[in-house]
Amino acid sequence: MTDSRTDAHACPPAAGPRRTLPLWRADGGPHGSRSWATCFYRCGNACDKPEPNRTDNPHVQDVITTALRRRAVLGGAAAGVGTVVLGGLGSAAAAGTPEGRGGGHGHGNGHGRGDRVSTDGFRPVAPNTDDAVTVPPGYTSAVVAAWGDAVLPGAPRFDVHRQTPESAAQQFGYNNDYVGVLPLGRSSALLVCNHEYTNEEIMFPAGAYSADEQRRIALASHGMSVLRIEKGRRGGWSASRDRRTYNRRITGETPFAVDGPAAGSARLRTSADPSGRTILGTLNNCAGGTTPWGTVLSGEENVNQYFGTAGEIPADRAEAFERYGISAEGERGWHLTWDRFDVAKEPNEPNRFGWIVEIDPYDRDAAPVKHTMLGRFKHEGANVQLAHDGRAVVYMGDDERGDYLYRFVSAERMRRGNSRWARRHNQQLLTRGTLSVARLSGDGTADGEWDGTGEWVPLTSDRESFVPGWSVVDVLVDTRLAADTVAPTRMDRPEDVEPNPVNGRVYAALTNNSNRGTAYPTDEANPLASSKVRPELGAPLEDATGNRNGYVLELEPGRDRTSSRFTWRLFLVCGDPEAPETYFGGFPKDQVSPISCPDNVAFDSVGNLWVSTDGNALGSHDGIFRVPVAGRSRGKVEQFLTVPIGAEACGPLITDGDQHVWLAVQHPGEGGTFAAPTSLWPHTDRFPRPAVVVTWKR
Ligand code: FEO
Ligand code: CA
Ligand code: CA
Repeated sequence: MTDSRTDAHACPPAAGPRRTLPLWRADGGPHGSRSWATCFYRCGNACDKPEPNRTDNPHVQDVITTALRRRAVLGGAAAGVGTVVLGGLGSAAAAGTPEGRGGGHGHGNGHGRGDRVSTDGFRPVAPNTDDAVTVPPGYTSAVVAAWGDAVLPGAPRFDVHRQTPESAAQQFGYNNDYVGVLPLGRSSALLVCNHEYTNEEIMFPAGAYSADEQRRIALASHGMSVLRIEKGRRGGWSASRDRRTYNRRITGETPFAVDGPAAGSARLRTSADPSGRTILGTLNNCAGGTTPWGTVLSGEENVNQYFGTAGEIPADRAEAFERYGISAEGERGWHLTWDRFDVAKEPNEPNRFGWIVEIDPYDRDAAPVKHTMLGRFKHEGANVQLAHDGRAVVYMGDDERGDYLYRFVSAERMRRGNSRWARRHNQQLLTRGTLSVARLSGDGTADGEWDGTGEWVPLTSDRESFVPGWSVVDVLVDTRLAADTVAPTRMDRPEDVEPNPVNGRVYAALTNNSNRGTAYPTDEANPLASSKVRPELGAPLEDATGNRNGYVLELEPGRDRTSSRFTWRLFLVCGDPEAPETYFGGFPKDQVSPISCPDNVAFDSVGNLWVSTDGNALGSHDGIFRVPVAGRSRGKVEQFLTVPIGAEACGPLITDGDQHVWLAVQHPGEGGTFAAPTSLWPHTDRFPRPAVVVTWKR
């Protein structure tokens, strides 16, 4: 369907005087805008529980204290922007796919001219609370695939009153998150989506399904979808009639191969899989990334919520389970339906989730793989940058308050070309290499920037553990606990961490942290102990403890992208421009859109950063924003789109010469029920349906 609005506020186009770096705020205030359902289903009410990270690991130099309250003189943040380096091996344009095209739209496939979202001037969308996908005047949007749509040949027509696990396993799953679009030809492509979690209270009419039936349907509604799509003559994209060649559903029961050092280890063996090499299903797949070799990576994130027990937590697992947020209560009750989710019966089953998985969308028969070499934690996603020698450098965030940034560097180099031999080689790149965790050091605020240097502290290679007393397998399975011993920097919920294919820098969304400054101190990379929120649109700003609106961190890996050293700076300190603590790369604050809780990031062909948000703490709906990272417009945040009531904006992606902007509208209507929905988006039924949307200029 098409759903466009024109209400917007106009931002003056010209850049005024750049702003200096703001420092510091007072305390107090409410939580963010997330509904109870979001907290319950998404992360198992993580914010209501003690943080799993009990270390005192903000061992960072130059901790900023409340004494540092004055504004510092920036001295030109933009001056810190280096010369733009085009593409090179770091661009996904270097990709090889079976179709002989780049490894994913949106990277390096043309430079915007004219009607391209990369360079187009659009009137930013104003903050709003409409039950719609609202885009700038002159643009339109349409649903490409929604919950329940047929994916596999012969899939039954969706009927919300006659859902079954069998039908769900053939239909588009619930709560689409990551969006990948991989080329097939001039007007054909593969859409790859994650289905992160389920909202049972709005999926099922009350009393229509037993708890056991709901769980079985929910398990089948998790996972991933691959579907062929076709470009339409009028500018949009739609599902192809060809469902046989590529279409695929991966669910919570699809067999996965396991590779890397922990494959087959005792830590991964269960009674159903004594080999420790075949895992049923992938769960809580959040963000992801398209690799330069034409596959898709997906992060298993808040997997703790699927496990519980009516018995006792095994004593020898208590520490690890606590660090990963696994408790006996098991919010979803899945342990009551399946023994494998009962941690007293199968204490190793949790070790089989929390990985980065890789799928080959071009081969529907290829077994998806869980890569143990990339560590086990609450993976938001994974994105690859190629080093100049062709090794894969993978950036990852562990999305928990006070957890860490990680990097993996492969031992082998990517092979170019699309031969079967090259593809097989490249799909094994993530089995051998070195996994590291980030330690950031501030250089003080006298320079007027929140910035400094960083170090990738090695945890393990595939052959040798660098954590004294820890085996390679134990580092990979209990990565959080191993990392705790080497004093990494506790960050404010690292979400997407993605290299910019144009300037080579790496951008990390640090979405928020209500505990920062109270449970543990601030530091230069996580500087806010308080921030301004707005309880509802139009209300005055209020003080709240912690970092409520998030940051975007800019890392400069340097010429050698495998180096253990890097530099960093806070590029965006998000929030309402009226809030004194906000900072937008030095761009004038009266000319930017309010932005809160950055989550996923993407880049267009000229290197503009695109940010989607989750959990707006300013009273508006979440959305997508465009932010140039270079030149006079560096830091000019403009809102491109807002999402419907209760929804989060996920997986932004810019494709085919910057003509199309993709997003996943996740959990519309969250907070309501089937009987009393708070959203009816996309207005095709009497209940909301998560869906993937594409937007283009009319
Ligand atoms: Fe699934 Fe970190 O968001
Ligand atoms: Ca500094
Ligand atoms: Ca996310």
